Amino acid sequence: MAVERTLSIIKPDATKRNLTGKINQKFEDAGLRIVAQKRIHLTPEQAGKFYEVHKDRPFFAELRDFMASGPVVVQVLEGENAITKNREVMGATNPADAAPGTIRKEFATSVGENSVHGSDAPETAREEIAFFFSGLELVG
Ligand code: CMP
Repeated sequence: MAVERTLSIIKPDATKRNLTGKINQKFEDAGLRIVAQKRIHLTPEQAGKFYEVHKDRPFFAELRDFMASGPVVVQVLEGENAITKNREVMGATNPADAAPGTIRKEFATSVGENSVHGSDAPETAREEIAFFFSGLELVG
């Protein structure tokens, strides 16, 4: 197994409900280490750039505007198989399909307002980490 890093975002629906600590506990309980973290408020332009891969999807405008609707906590998680492990801890995109004990099952309110984002593959993780963090900000 390889030690990996993945980009995680605690979304506005979760920061609004003061769930950052509870969500971070889930990551740490799963053996993921938070090696970088900051709370920021994205502009719609920044949110749209981050989710550019979805720009032709019908939900793009909703997603962009939601991600700019309040503060987010962007973070880098490190651990063995961190990308897959984080996706397991998050649960399915739609909370209705998420397994018991996962973040989205416990906290998400809808497929759009689903509390967390996590990178889906090593190349995406590298790009998404570089979108938010410089190398100096990653403290393992
Ligand atoms: P995320 O993992 O951040 O990656 C893309 C996001 O698009 C996804 O989580 C969902 O929050 C969002 N998304 C996917 N499908 C829909 C949908 N049908 N309506 C609104 N948002 C969606």
